[in-house]
Amino acid sequence: MTTTPASAITPSDTTPSDTTRSKTVLITGASSGIGRATALRLAREGHQVVLGARREDRLAEIAREIETAGGKADVHRLDVTDREDVVAFADAAVERHGRIDVVVNNAGVMPLSRLDALLTDEWDRMIDVNVRGLLHGIAAALPHFQEQGGGHFVTVASIGAHQVVPTAAVYCATKYAAWAVTEGLRLELDPSIRVTTVSPGVVESELADSISDPLARDAMRTYRADSIPPDAIADAISYAIAQPPGVDINELVIRPTRQR
Ligand SMILES: NC(=O)c1ccc[n+]([C@@H]2O[C@H](COP(=O)([O-])OP(=O)(O)OC[C@H]3O[C@@H](n4cnc5c(N)ncnc54)[C@H](OP(=O)(O)O)[C@@H]3O)[C@@H](O)[C@H]2O)c1
Repeated sequence: MTTTPASAITPSDTTPSDTTRSKTVLITGASSGIGRATALRLAREGHQVVLGARREDRLAEIAREIETAGGKADVHRLDVTDREDVVAFADAAVERHGRIDVVVNNAGVMPLSRLDALLTDEWDRMIDVNVRGLLHGIAAALPHFQEQGGGHFVTVASIGAHQVVPTAAVYCATKYAAWAVTEGLRLELDPSIRVTTVSPGVVESELADSISDPLARDAMRTYRADSIPPDAIADAISYAIAQPPGVDINELVIRPTRQR
């Protein structure tokens, strides 16, 4: 085992400033599930959250819940498949708060089916939301991160970024892509920009509601019998963004204990 001598650790690597500083955190897909839980959790910790998704009524309800509890939240109608929409989301946050500290690229869809069902429109939708949506989030925030000299990208990928299962080929492909893009960011960007991939296993949410294929829907009922609450993923995101500046949590995989 190697230990770092105390003299090699600089104060900026260890100061707990990031555990206490209030940050401006943009969250896509904040209207339900993991995004909603993350918004509530981070707002409770004193961060200013900016919630994006298509269902504005849901966002407004979550913002009210946050404000009633004494927190701060903005809402922004957002379709992540529309590049201009995502740019406007990021720019509006900078205009209002002066900077963006963290972007949680979380929006995702999972209409599973076997490839031979040829539900090609659903393949396209997964690619558009899960891959293009992520790229749009990166493209919208990166210039701000570079200008302000730092920032943090959190990608919500999936256990599907690590293994392929039948009916999930295209979904897993989008999540492998999300993993690869996020790892590419880590390698290419200046170290002032931190990068975290969070890969959940089975989490209670509305995600499986988008499955139209009857075979995949039945298979998912069994697969999703053991699940963890979205708060478990919110905790992981909170942990990653609270690290001191010299620490970058690159990858977290969070499964239900019984999931194999
Ligand atoms: N639940 C799981 O078991 C699990 C496991 C691994 C990974 N994940 C990942 O976790 C992320 C969140 O999913 P979840 O489980 O919390 O499911 P969810 O409850 O269905 O939430 C998905 C979110 O994505 C948003 N969204 C979908 N299409 C969008 C679009 N075009 N533009 C903007 N927002 C859009 C939805 O909001 P609107 O419909 O209001 O736009 C919703 O807020 C996804 O990336 C998913 O792949 C989930």
